[in-house]
Amino acid sequence: MTDYGTMPMTGLPKRVTVYEVGPRDGLQNEKALIPTEVKAEFIRQLLAAGHQAVETTSFVSPQWVPQLADASELLQLLDRPDGVRMPVLVPNDKGLNRALDAGVREIAVFGSATETFAQKNLNRTVAESLDMFRPVVDRARSQELMVRGYLSMCFGDPWEGAVDPHVVAAHARTLFDMGVTELSLGDTIGVATPGQVAALLEALGHQGISTDQLAVHFHDTYGQALANTLVALQHGITVVDASAGGLGGCPYAKSATGNLATEDLLWQLHGLGIETGVDLDALVRTSTWMAEQLGRPSPSRAVQALSKKE
Ligand code: HMG
Ligand code: MG
Repeated sequence: MTDYGTMPMTGLPKRVTVYEVGPRDGLQNEKALIPTEVKAEFIRQLLAAGHQAVETTSFVSPQWVPQLADASELLQLLDRPDGVRMPVLVPNDKGLNRALDAGVREIAVFGSATETFAQKNLNRTVAESLDMFRPVVDRARSQELMVRGYLSMCFGDPWEGAVDPHVVAAHARTLFDMGVTELSLGDTIGVATPGQVAALLEALGHQGISTDQLAVHFHDTYGQALANTLVALQHGITVVDASAGGLGGCPYAKSATGNLATEDLLWQLHGLGIETGVDLDALVRTSTWMAEQLGRPSPSRAVQALSKKE
């Protein structure tokens, strides 16, 4: 890859943890069932590229997300290196039992900032879903698991429109009081713009929630994910979710497209001189290979540019 140099900006972190969601968020919406061995190979390549956090799969109802019904089998195929985060999504007790049986050390519960999406994604109100998570988080924490929380629709919801940052901050407070160790702020349908990101981080600050407890999770539907990420970094965020090749979407929010592509994120971070420990060239090769498995090109601009033969 040609070296175009780096130029740091003041007020940004020196190092960012890229939290890779490709195997989970990236694949959950694929219609055709992907062989478990292909998923395992995808994850092995992501780890080999230097990722320190790879969300591997979900222990949700297989009736709701058939693509990830092979979660236990998948984990059996994987080495889990020490010090590398390999969380899985867990909504309820049944999911936690399955995750513990599979030897998982980190789970993620996933709430919604809005009532409509809570119903569509979890078949419950926001309050009922928080009640569902409480015993899960308790039991996981008592077994010394790390527990990530998500809040979806933090900025806009396709059924309810704009979302009040104070409502998000109140739900965030509840999740932290419950015992989550990190909270990821989801722009599930990719509608946020930079001022909204700043406003939400400030509202969370007023709830006593600091940016070192938070991650950002931008889908890139309107091409705003990188701009939003830069604002988040300027506010002190150091954990950024992204999906290799820009895969992704949510089966219960049709207007969600892929996540911010990890390669696009790495291009920006490395250009700013921010360390990630992830090898961009290796990741481009992985996403190009994965695109062949899925039978369509990656939407990532960086993957497209870097995979062209000059
Ligand atoms: P429900 O239908 O109310 O639950 O679904 P239920 O308890 O009646 O269970 C229905 C059936 O599923 C039963 O089976 C259960 O045993 C089974 P049956 O008796 O009919 O044969 N079941 C399970 N099986 C295996 N593992 C489990 C499990 N739970 C129930 N854990 C439920 C409620 C929460 C289960 C359902 O709504 C669900 O699984 N939802 C998950 C939806 C999902 O995964 N969405 C995508 C992830 S969220 C996302 O992408 C957003 C994010 O990326 C952030 C962002 O972008 O904003 C994180
Ligand atoms: Mg998502």
